[in-house]
Amino acid sequence: MALRELKMAESIAPVADTMEPQSIERLIEENAQAPAALIAILQAIQREHGYLSAAALREVSRATGRPLVDVYGVATFYRAFSLHPRGKHVVSACLGTACHVRGAHAVVGEIERQLGIRAGGTTEDREFSLETVNCLGACALGPVVVIDGHYVSKVGKEKVRPLLDDARRGRVGGRNDGEATSLSLVAHCSHCRASLMDPDHPFDGLPSIRLAMKGPGATGWWRISSRYGSNKRETNSTAPRGTVLSVYCTHCGEDLSDGWKCPACRAPLVSLGVGELARLRVCPRLGCDGHMLDVAS
Ligand code: FES
Repeated sequence: MALRELKMAESIAPVADTMEPQSIERLIEENAQAPAALIAILQAIQREHGYLSAAALREVSRATGRPLVDVYGVATFYRAFSLHPRGKHVVSACLGTACHVRGAHAVVGEIERQLGIRAGGTTEDREFSLETVNCLGACALGPVVVIDGHYVSKVGKEKVRPLLDDARRGRVGGRNDGEATSLSLVAHCSHCRASLMDPDHPFDGLPSIRLAMKGPGATGWWRISSRYGSNKRETNSTAPRGTVLSVYCTHCGEDLSDGWKCPACRAPLVSLGVGELARLRVCPRLGCDGHMLDVAS
């Protein structure tokens, strides 16, 4: 390994590395045959340990034969990977222009004051991490804060304390679900960036997201709701439940899977751009409701 690579890896996580080497070896072995094996391996380590340590990246490099710079490049390209331990609850506050003019900086300041950390930091008890983002694709509802994957709109300083209390009790998405689930996501193709919104076929009172699909014996369309939290989906495929559709952009025809797997059924997720930095990932297996929001930092 080149000295430059080693130094790069050693600078990744200046915290005590408590990952068991056997655990990393097992996760590599379990995911080595996946179509996008490197991403699948890193995803498995991230899911099990909460972050990617320098030692874990070195072991992945050694076991897969990929140069450490490649492994590091993938680990830092995808925002859902973290090179540092994150808190149990992740708070992402938008500081994009629309949220900024509605007072987002005061909201971030209040979160920092309540948690006793600065943006980018994690509380000493590892309960909370605070990140700031540039746009979450919900500008009309700003200031927007995402806590543990749940969007909360129109956040003022006075909402900060109850929101953090709800997160500690695992209730974000409970009391605040009215605001979170009323959120409309505006999705675009992550390749050509063309809008995927279809106002002519509304779901849940909002424009649906229209995608092209290929299933066994059929090609056609797959539509999903743009309302965050809704699982409404439709397709012209007559394939049975459990079938995994291949999903493409209706404009450029690119395959929209990006190597991530459904946390529920392990099918390759369809990845859509939302705003400047967020990604909506949806499971294309018929009958599976798996979906996740990846909020960038
Ligand atoms: S600027 Fe905050 S959601 Fe777009």
